[in-house]
Amino acid sequence: MAELVSEINRRRTFAIISHPDAGKTTLTEKLLLYGGAIALAGSVKGKKTDRHAVSDWMEIEKQRGISVTSSVMQFEYEGFCINILDTPGHQDFSEDTYRTLMAVDSAVMVIDAAKGVENQTRKLFKVCVMRHIPIFTFINKLDRDAKNSFDLLSQIEDELGISTCPMNWAIGSGVDFKGIYDRERKKVITYSANGGQHEVDSTELDIDDPNLKSVIGEINYNQLMEDIELLDGASDEYDAERVAKGELSPVFFGSALNNFGVEPFLEGFLKMTSPPLPRNSDKGTVNPTDDYFSAFVFKIQANMNKAHRDRLTFMRICSGKFSRDMEVCHVQGGMKKMRLSQPQQMMAQEREIIDEAYAGDIIGVFDPGIFSIGDTVCSPGHELRFDGIPTFAPEHFARIRHKDTMKRKQFVKGATQIAQEGAVQIFREPDTGMEEVIVGVVGMLQFDVFEHRMRTEYGVELISESLPYQYIRWIDMDDGGVDPKKLNLSSDTRIVEDFHGNPLLLFTSEWNIRWALEKNEGLKLKEFSRN
Ligand code: G4P
Repeated sequence: MAELVSEINRRRTFAIISHPDAGKTTLTEKLLLYGGAIALAGSVKGKKTDRHAVSDWMEIEKQRGISVTSSVMQFEYEGFCINILDTPGHQDFSEDTYRTLMAVDSAVMVIDAAKGVENQTRKLFKVCVMRHIPIFTFINKLDRDAKNSFDLLSQIEDELGISTCPMNWAIGSGVDFKGIYDRERKKVITYSANGGQHEVDSTELDIDDPNLKSVIGEINYNQLMEDIELLDGASDEYDAERVAKGELSPVFFGSALNNFGVEPFLEGFLKMTSPPLPRNSDKGTVNPTDDYFSAFVFKIQANMNKAHRDRLTFMRICSGKFSRDMEVCHVQGGMKKMRLSQPQQMMAQEREIIDEAYAGDIIGVFDPGIFSIGDTVCSPGHELRFDGIPTFAPEHFARIRHKDTMKRKQFVKGATQIAQEGAVQIFREPDTGMEEVIVGVVGMLQFDVFEHRMRTEYGVELISESLPYQYIRWIDMDDGGVDPKKLNLSSDTRIVEDFHGNPLLLFTSEWNIRWALEKNEGLKLKEFSRN
């Protein structure tokens, strides 16, 4: 038991989020360098998976092994065992990010100091807030001309609605970037540009060191003194409880590319962030140190190796210890007993089969096609279900069927498996079979990927017809609800069912949503569902 507790307590599991190009990959890479998980910068591949056009995606898709191994990484640093989860930056894959955030205990938000809060930052941030997870901020690229640091903080506070507490402070930016000031230790860590891609030289000086003025220059010195006074008087103080609730974000400054400010960030972050947190289930709270194994599925990646048609399912362990060959039950599979096949963890580019893992860790297992996103796996005798992972409302819809009637079986299999992965959502009109389904996606790129995968992985050509719906709402059946068959709806509103048999309505406009609510007393609609 003591071993279980100490193993769990040294674990930290977090995701890095950012608008594309803010420096997420670069920061991840530097963190891995500190952990000794990789030997050379430039080894974290697959970062462009989520960018730009479909062609890019397809190209990368061929190297799926690489992009996946970079999506969950574990490394050791000063006694901590750290799990970093990567998230795609392209907004068409933001659902994937939403799910990843369900598996972590905190998030690191990387912000480009010249750009401040960007579109995708806002979207991702909203999900963090929904989960109330602690958010740490790394303001990056100080070696380039940056916005004023106070303005950046105000923007984060105003636009994202979270308070900030700077743990350190940037001294100048761009060619005039001189370093950072560590507020707690009252020390300046100086930066000397070397124009290169390598770690820069840095030295530490006390804030009252008589040489400081000449090292950072008089203008910067005066500015720093003024800033410190303002900060000490006006900024929020560090408050662990508020950080834990996601109300206050500790902020760090640096330049990931130059590996400057990364180590202070890592050390501060590890001190402030918590070990694996408890999770909710239908049987109450599950604590990480509970003595039975439990985990939930948050990501499924299919057909990584075409020759084997394999599917890798990623689980977050929520309690206890996992050992290879132990017997577990798949709750949503009718408590079926099984052994998880080839459990593995990722170390930068390498996957390795593991013998054991603990609460907080992420493991990947081979899956013959039985798991769905949100499923629970646990030790026999501990039947419980973790709170479902929210499914977000798709915004684009198409009706699809197979071109070749001989391919019916492959069509059903492909559509079902890709939907289980959560890569697209599939809806059915009541009383119809799987011959024809409605596919819903959050981003258009997901359609292209779906068609491509159906063709290459399942050998099915699709006929698709885009549909005019833009809004989807789940009918809330929590307290019985209203009978979907008896609803009075406008002619261009359609009733469908999701993968789990829940009823939904497809609307072409917000006006139609209001119409449906007005004409049907007791009708309650939800924007997302939990499976
Ligand atoms: P992302 O994962 O958030 O999309 O960002 P990524 O790390 O790929 O960084 C985006 C670009 O910003 C990269 O340049 C990267 O080198 C640069 N960058 C990251 N951190 C810093 C920093 O601290 N200072 C400066 N000046 N640049 C930084 P790129 O030219 O798009 O890609 P690459 O050719 O360097 O790979």
